[in-house]
Amino acid sequence: MNKKIKKIIRKKNKSKIVCLTAYSKKMASIIDQDCDIVLVGDSVANVIYGMPNTHKIELKTIINHAKAVRQGIKNSLMIIDMPKGTYKNEKQAKANAKMILKQTRCDAIKIESNNKNFQIIKNLVKNRIPVMGHIGYTPQFKKKFKIYGSNLREKRKLINEAIKIEKAGAFSIVLECIKKDLAKEISEILKIPTIGIGSSVHCDGQILVTEDILGMSGFYPKFVKKYVNLNRIIAKTVRKYSIDVKRKKFPTKKNAF
Ligand code: KIV
Repeated sequence: MNKKIKKIIRKKNKSKIVCLTAYSKKMASIIDQDCDIVLVGDSVANVIYGMPNTHKIELKTIINHAKAVRQGIKNSLMIIDMPKGTYKNEKQAKANAKMILKQTRCDAIKIESNNKNFQIIKNLVKNRIPVMGHIGYTPQFKKKFKIYGSNLREKRKLINEAIKIEKAGAFSIVLECIKKDLAKEISEILKIPTIGIGSSVHCDGQILVTEDILGMSGFYPKFVKKYVNLNRIIAKTVRKYSIDVKRKKFPTKKNAF
């Protein structure tokens, strides 16, 4: 197993695992300085391409972003989301995951659980492809957003799903929008680290979409903390530039050759 992955696993019950998404070299190089994991998420579909969901993003698009991200990463573990429809069976999943690893030199791939694809994870791991799982709200398979774990049946189902993913050999698992008590229980049961998004402080680590914390995406549900409003800063800057150009205040002599 890759040293960086071992390091992530060892952090469980010791220190929190810090994760963010990146789709470009520059953003990755900034995030790399303070994060343990950089995920090239399929959220690139919504954030960069303005798609209504993640369903239509193509593998080649994710790979191109990942190649850029790779150039910005020195220390953190780089994980790539396999897009919807690219891991429908063991053979397809293995071929696509191998291609992702070869073309991008990432450390691992992430696949969303549909509570059925455990054998696919097992086969990937058997073929030395490190896998991060993803349960709860899994945008590739769910039509409507909801919070998971409010009734006993759902709780049992999610606990079983998490255990099966761990048994299949995943080295970590994302818990998305799972109620705090259940996130705590799953994090205590599993030996692999849980990475929460909207699933409380009880997870072993946290992930958010970088553009959400920067105030650039326009998507700010309760589980997002907007640390800065970059959209406002960019708009103000563009206005200043526009005024300068119109009033011939830019370029000045200093900016000319
Ligand atoms: O696509 C993504 O960005 C994600 C997470 C934020 C977990 O899957």
